[in-house]
Amino acid sequence: MSPVHAACALLFAAPLMVLGVPPIWTQPEQVHLSYGGVPGTMVVTWTTFNETESKVEYSLLGARLFEMSAIGHATLFVDSGTEKRKMFIHRVTLGDLKPAASYVYHCGSEEGWSDVFFFTALNDSTTSSPRFAFYGDLGNENPQSLARLQKETQLGMYDVILHIGDFAYDMHEDNARIGDEFMRQIESIAAYVPYMTCPGNHEATYNFSNYRNRFSMPGQTESLWYSWNLGSAHIISISTEVYFYLDFGQDLLFKQYEWLEKDLEEANKPENRAVRPWIITMGHRPMYCSDDDQDDCTTFESYVRLGRNDTKPPAPGLEDLFYRYGVDVELWAHEHTYERLWPVYGDKAFNGSREQPYVNPKAPVHIITGSAGCREKTDKFNPNPKEWSAFRSTDYGYSRMQVVNGTHLYMEQVSDDQNGKVIDSIWVVKEKHGFSAWVQSHHFVHTGDLSSSEEKVRRGIWHLFPRVNKVPSLGTNAEICYTSQRCTLSVEERGSIFLSSCGCSCWQHSSS
Ligand SMILES: [Fe+2]
Repeated sequence: MSPVHAACALLFAAPLMVLGVPPIWTQPEQVHLSYGGVPGTMVVTWTTFNETESKVEYSLLGARLFEMSAIGHATLFVDSGTEKRKMFIHRVTLGDLKPAASYVYHCGSEEGWSDVFFFTALNDSTTSSPRFAFYGDLGNENPQSLARLQKETQLGMYDVILHIGDFAYDMHEDNARIGDEFMRQIESIAAYVPYMTCPGNHEATYNFSNYRNRFSMPGQTESLWYSWNLGSAHIISISTEVYFYLDFGQDLLFKQYEWLEKDLEEANKPENRAVRPWIITMGHRPMYCSDDDQDDCTTFESYVRLGRNDTKPPAPGLEDLFYRYGVDVELWAHEHTYERLWPVYGDKAFNGSREQPYVNPKAPVHIITGSAGCREKTDKFNPNPKEWSAFRSTDYGYSRMQVVNGTHLYMEQVSDDQNGKVIDSIWVVKEKHGFSAWVQSHHFVHTGDLSSSEEKVRRGIWHLFPRVNKVPSLGTNAEICYTSQRCTLSVEERGSIFLSSCGCSCWQHSSS
């Protein structure tokens, strides 16, 4: 080879040699916040692709920058795709934050720091009026509502974001690079306010591993289910996916149900419900919907609502549980639409009154908001919805909620298609919370020596009958002693509410 040829060969080889050197990935990215579940805390979570220390430096807004610091830890997450990509998920919990005070922070290590962000610590006073944005089904591609949410968050319009399942579409794709890019997209929201989540079906691949590793919700369930308090609300986040992906562990379904029952019982203790009267749930797949896509909610026998009979033992659904413990508001997504329901239980509407349906409603209020924007576009509606369907929209958009005080809660729907126009709004007003709020316009007269029905329910002596469709139909004034293997006394109210008690005596029921 001539000297000229040799020089040329070196020139061509040089870029190849440079390409062969892997970059060092110590720069923090995908920064996001979550509430730690304990007053005065905030969790900062971020990603690096090489291992580094996990440190947050922070200070009160206006004080000397970064005069405080906190150390956390990183966990190695190996994606299950063909490349087995590795990333380090860093988590640092900030404590002793002053309620409603604003902080400035950055995160990382001496090998690289993030941009500077700010947040306001949650106000843990039960008289505060927290403001939420909530939605589901927001993807990396076609994220229609994202820019509006980014700007509104940075304008300070929200204290908390609730993302009700289905992220990125899908986080595991392209060896989890779609997940990385989605987390970068939401950083301009989630680095400023707590971004609270629950899993959806689009997180299921590799046993929800991208979801479980990337988020940091309260509790010890890898963000699958948990509860927390804010203002006058107790907020419960669940995985509806435990009803559908039994291969990942049927025990999860029963564990969640058991936890839910305990959590609801605790939230219903008089001393707790008195200060946090609102119980709000969020879960991905709704119990009811009127889309035409044959999803679970379009069938009467919804798994989430009524449970499954093809498991051993049969898996209980959530409608009776939520009803029994007086859940006020249930937030759902999954359907790529917005739908507001009349207060509903047992497939029937129970409005507070004809004129004021949401004033002292006689059943939980359901909102479905899964139209934030994703590559699957929006869904179509069934042209003939059931009586419980109150308002529907196929516009891209998202929802807002303010828990104003113990009696008043406001929700509205924003249309991104209509440049941020509010296309629907309701006030839910409740002078009374808990199970007794459903039956307060009715009374039960017992013939035995038991005290009032409300007292029985409160003390856990009475329970809702679990299978509503197996109880015989009664008139509006009826006296019945209905005994099953469980020695259950059941009373029907308005054709759908069933109460039961161990130990038989007859109860007379009449509408007031
Ligand atoms: Fe979904």
